[in-house]
Amino acid sequence: TAGKGRGARGLRFAPVAPNTKDAVTVPAGYEQNVVIRWGEPILRGAPAFDPDRQTAKAQAGQFGYNNDFLSLLPLRGEHGRQVLVANHEYTDEILMFKGYDPENPTREQVEIAWAAHGLSVVVVEGERKSGALRAVTRHHLNRRLTATSRFRLTGPAAGSDLVRTKADPRGTTVLGTLNNCSGGTTPWGTTLHGEENFNQYFANAVQVTDPKDAARLKRYGVSGAASERKWEWFDDRFDLAKEPNEANRFGWVVELDPFDPDSTPRKRTALGRFKHEAAQPRLTDDGRPVVYMGDDEKFDYFYKFVGSKRMAKGKSRAAHEHNLTLLDEGTLYVAKLTGDSPAAEIDGKGTLPQDGEFDGSGRWIPLATAGPGGKAVSHVEGMTAEEVYVFTRLAGDKVGATKMDRPEDIEPSPHTGKVYVALTNNSDRGKPGKEGADEANPRDLNKHGQVLELTERRNRADATTFAWSLFLVAGDPDDPSTYFAGFPKDRVSPISCPDNVAFDPHGNLWLSTDGNRLGSHDGLFGVATRGERRGELKQFLTMPTGAETCGPLIQDRRVLVAVQHPGEVDGASVEKPASTWPDGPGKLVRPSVVSVWREDGRDIGV
Ligand code: FEO
Ligand code: CA
Ligand code: CA
Ligand code: CA
Repeated sequence: TAGKGRGARGLRFAPVAPNTKDAVTVPAGYEQNVVIRWGEPILRGAPAFDPDRQTAKAQAGQFGYNNDFLSLLPLRGEHGRQVLVANHEYTDEILMFKGYDPENPTREQVEIAWAAHGLSVVVVEGERKSGALRAVTRHHLNRRLTATSRFRLTGPAAGSDLVRTKADPRGTTVLGTLNNCSGGTTPWGTTLHGEENFNQYFANAVQVTDPKDAARLKRYGVSGAASERKWEWFDDRFDLAKEPNEANRFGWVVELDPFDPDSTPRKRTALGRFKHEAAQPRLTDDGRPVVYMGDDEKFDYFYKFVGSKRMAKGKSRAAHEHNLTLLDEGTLYVAKLTGDSPAAEIDGKGTLPQDGEFDGSGRWIPLATAGPGGKAVSHVEGMTAEEVYVFTRLAGDKVGATKMDRPEDIEPSPHTGKVYVALTNNSDRGKPGKEGADEANPRDLNKHGQVLELTERRNRADATTFAWSLFLVAGDPDDPSTYFAGFPKDRVSPISCPDNVAFDPHGNLWLSTDGNRLGSHDGLFGVATRGERRGELKQFLTMPTGAETCGPLIQDRRVLVAVQHPGEVDGASVEKPASTWPDGPGKLVRPSVVSVWREDGRDIGV
């Protein structure tokens, strides 16, 4: 086991053992509290949560369902307070409503689900003597954005024929954001939110007969007749037979200004359209934004956007207005990776090649460049710029980008500039008719995933070439195919299915997992990326039954996690719960945000 209390600075805690408890378990000497639960009122006038009397009106003023990405922003002038921004990726109706009939949802249930999707902004306040946080209800910055709120499309695909609908003939105003998975926080004080598996909300793709349109839908996984949630019964825009372009208005990165509660959030089309997991920005040496993004699908790609305008410094209104245009102009790239070992040495079992590392070089291939006023040029033969932006996956296909094992979160280390890509798993790698292992995705039937470390040429964020190596090949350390940056494997925690990526103030990498295939629950892990302890992975906490670990934020004295979809187990329902977290037997399971801190008040892991 990793030494008790030893480790790299920031990771000196006794690792939590893998387990299947219906609880958040934390290291000895640490405490926790539930910061906010699904359904807690955050807006003025919203009622307390009542599981037996849920309404759409109430939910629209309450914290949404299935919290995923979290951001905490400093709130000037209000001591001890911060602004929490949360994604609400999707709804689990069977765990929300007593007696829910998936074949016959009611209008009220559907409207509650609309209101439980989206984003929350809620001010939180720390307790004086601990790391506990609690929500400040009715703060003027508190806000809900849902599946029916107004969003503006900006950038090169705004106004395109491909995004116009009957309700929005100009193609600039979209109702709602859907399936917000992970995200990012910009240096100019806004938050980014990836719209991920939007395909599941749209019905009747089978009725789209034009071969080009049908192929585009298929490439995005939009298929079938009725949708799972039957939203098309209650709003025609979810019916592709009636509104064929509506699905093209989802799958974007949303930018929200949490400090302007009256602002309309924007869908930034210059960042492309795919199943956006997250969007994490950094700045070039001359102050332009670069955003790293993954497309979470088996055999899909990862991308970066390099802005052409410099961020304005200072707190003036004009500077802020300028910064709200940064993500509309720049070039969108997709990654192509080449291994440096002979293909014959990549055996699909994860055996290290003879040079001892899965590594190589790569190129960022430009797809399109957006300029002022929404004008854009395509760099992909046979596709217009608008097509590149709306059907970005097809552009990646055309230029031969590298098909990865489900790129989830991607983040640059604020300490080193190296970029970490969580590749969560790919159960289809190497199956008949599918791509087999390559050096960056070295295992067939990949159950546990890997983490790739990317070094931009000269460590410049806008470089067009890079070096890469696999930092972790996940799994049980006893499994010979695993690799922990060369660290001795008898001293690391087992890990499976890395999803979200974060950094602590010391520069350690933290990884959260989704879908652990090792027989224990998901969790949160810290690992040093530098020094002699590089690769020493330690588990910091575990999740309740059925939950995935989301939104990790590691501050000096606090770790914040979103417990997403607790109780989501096949066959579970309100009547037959698999989890009763966080409130115990007889209470509805509720996705919630948890804060963890040290009993002695000192910094995390020092
Ligand atoms: Fe919503 Fe890719 O995790
Ligand atoms: Ca190699
Ligand atoms: Ca995720
Ligand atoms: Ca995931």
